Amino acid sequence: MTHIHLPPPEEKPRYVQRMFARISDRYDLMNRVMTGGQDRVWRRMVVELCELPSGGRILDVATGTGDIVYEAIRRHPHVRPVGVDLTLEMMLAGRHKFNGRSIPFVQGDALHLPFADNSFDAACSGFMMRNVVDIAQAFAEQRRVVRPGGKVVCLEITRPRRGLWRPLFHLYFHRIVPLLGAIIGRERAAYTYLPHSTLTFPDADTLADIMRQVGLHDVYYRTVMFGTIAIHVGRVGEDR
Ligand SMILES: C[S@@+](CC[C@H](N)C(=O)[O-])C[C@H]1O[C@@H](n2cnc3c(N)ncnc32)[C@H](O)[C@@H]1O
Repeated sequence: MTHIHLPPPEEKPRYVQRMFARISDRYDLMNRVMTGGQDRVWRRMVVELCELPSGGRILDVATGTGDIVYEAIRRHPHVRPVGVDLTLEMMLAGRHKFNGRSIPFVQGDALHLPFADNSFDAACSGFMMRNVVDIAQAFAEQRRVVRPGGKVVCLEITRPRRGLWRPLFHLYFHRIVPLLGAIIGRERAAYTYLPHSTLTFPDADTLADIMRQVGLHDVYYRTVMFGTIAIHVGRVGEDR
């Protein structure tokens, strides 16, 4: 395993922001290569699980280059999406991907979302939770900005349960991904950070508990890609 010096929590936002700024122009290509193109399928599932009404408003937190937002527009042409991210360079890299439609991208922090209460029909995030210093606060903020009855959906990497896939996942993530990152992404450090960020990340059951603790209802998750990717769903209660 390649070793990496991870920053203390107070330096993590700046560290994460700099790292994504460096890889912003190769980020999409690396995603396609690392996942064999499957990442698009997972983003589509996220949009479906948001259960948007016609003309609904969706917030994509840590939108990066906007792939979930673009998937939402493809599926629901009348949707009103907003993408928010800490790293300007990521949003700049993604801004021209959807011909003829400009997306409201906003620079902001997932832990202090710059939106009023009840502003959206759903909020989602893709591959963000590993990067934040306070997962509960990130979910609480999404719950705050979503109207009662709306969905909060989280797509993240998760460690597979014991079995054959666990050592294979470890090998792929800790050996192959940094190598691909060095060759294709020209940034070994960022793609060494990626597997390390999964080591301390809560397992899928614990993540579901965190969602319940911040007051989300009917929380459940499903896993895909041999149990290595989890999609969690919660509902904002009517009792707010
Ligand atoms: C792995 S990328 C995911 C991008 C996109 N959601 C996707 O599915 O491809 C992680 C993103 O999280 C953003 N990020 C990390 N911490 C954040 C925070 N506290 N607030 C907002 N964005 C954050 C990074 O800038 C980066 O663009």
